[in-house]
Amino acid sequence: MITATETKLPSIKTALPGPKGKQVIEYDAKYISPSLSRDYPLVAERASGAIVEDPDGNMFLDFAAGIAVCSTGHCHPNVVSAIQKQAAELIHIAGTDFYHRHMPQLAERLVATMPKSHNWKVFFGNSGTEAVEGAIKLARYSTKRDKLIAFYGCFHGRTLGSLSLTASKNTQRKYFGTLLGGVEHIPYPYSYRCALGHGREECGGEIIDLLEHQIFKRLFAPEEVAAIIVEPIQGEGGFIPAPLSFLQELQRICNKHGIMLILDEVQAGMGRTGKMWAYDHAGITPDIVLTAKGIASGMPISAFIAKESVMQWKPGSHGTTYGGNPVCVAAALATLDLIQGGLMANAQKMGDYIFRKIGDWPKKFRIVGDVRGKGLMIGVEIVRDQSTKERAQDLRDKVVDQAFHRGLLTLGSGENSIRMSPPLIIDEEQADCAIRIMEESIRETEKSL
Ligand SMILES: Cc1ncc(COP(=O)(O)O)c(C=O)c1O
Repeated sequence: MITATETKLPSIKTALPGPKGKQVIEYDAKYISPSLSRDYPLVAERASGAIVEDPDGNMFLDFAAGIAVCSTGHCHPNVVSAIQKQAAELIHIAGTDFYHRHMPQLAERLVATMPKSHNWKVFFGNSGTEAVEGAIKLARYSTKRDKLIAFYGCFHGRTLGSLSLTASKNTQRKYFGTLLGGVEHIPYPYSYRCALGHGREECGGEIIDLLEHQIFKRLFAPEEVAAIIVEPIQGEGGFIPAPLSFLQELQRICNKHGIMLILDEVQAGMGRTGKMWAYDHAGITPDIVLTAKGIASGMPISAFIAKESVMQWKPGSHGTTYGGNPVCVAAALATLDLIQGGLMANAQKMGDYIFRKIGDWPKKFRIVGDVRGKGLMIGVEIVRDQSTKERAQDLRDKVVDQAFHRGLLTLGSGENSIRMSPPLIIDEEQADCAIRIMEESIRETEKSL
């Protein structure tokens, strides 16, 4: 029998889910919280590289990577051996109470990726939402202000602080009551749907205007604002890149008013866009940068990296039991070695390769409205009609489902977009296979119109 370690292309042998997969799904339904929203019935048994194998021996090409987490692919041997070695030496000591060399080691590596104009310090947590929570606290602590500005369509997490910033789907907030006060949302620059018809690099000037001339004049004065938090490419919101000039304008406004500029790189960071951080493309210097997902190939660790001048809080003001756990740090160090040792360059190369081949999809397929993104963060927006741009969530779901049944894992994103975020290790053969499956799935979905 071929296993995930021996193949790099998908093969589907049973109806999906297969009989063993069905058993797992029934078992799960009995015990697991129904709040989890699985788009389609993938049951993972083992995985290697960009291939996920289910319990029935079906092989899937993974263009979801566990929501952009498995940056080095599944179970990369260097990551596995780093985890195994560290697990045999020291699993946990609580970095909040004691020292271990692994925390400063990883912090030093992360700081080396930051602009050289400043000194930086790092706080480790366990998940993206924790990085967001910590950044909100740090921004408030260091500015002694409490107001926060975020964007419609953004996703920053689901704990109550980060959820106050998240403005993605109302189900994520419904019935959870009053969230943090002092949070204002403004539109995110979305060039495909820009009311003023601005292109990919010009869109957003009107939002900067709104911020400076409406929000700051009518709602709260800029000197009350602790932070503006932004995803350089909205992930959950539809893989929508902000124009570089928009990020530069945010930096100008933040610098002018002493507001912290927080870049949420939880999904876009760690080399996925061809640079370590997606904000690097804009040449800006944020005050606080958040990372999680791709940092440790699937081990739970997150970090926020802040200017040393900002991270000046007193012992006891913030801490966590597990953050910077030695095993997760070992996985992160091995992941960074791989990303900086070639995978980031591969993300750029394979991203260019894929965009060259799919850039004409809006011409080729009447339900594809837009193709966008950077590197291996690839978004495809599905519409009912290209001229009205009517959103077609049902067709999007069909394409994702069709792709799954052909052996390709993708994820929905935003109301009607598909995200492709493969591991950074993919090669041309795998890219071609994914493109072929996507084209077949889109064509098949168009037939249902
Ligand atoms: C940009 C962004 N920020 C924060 C989060 C929250 O991360 P987590 O699910 O690890 O809490 C996510 C998760 O999708 C994200 O995409």
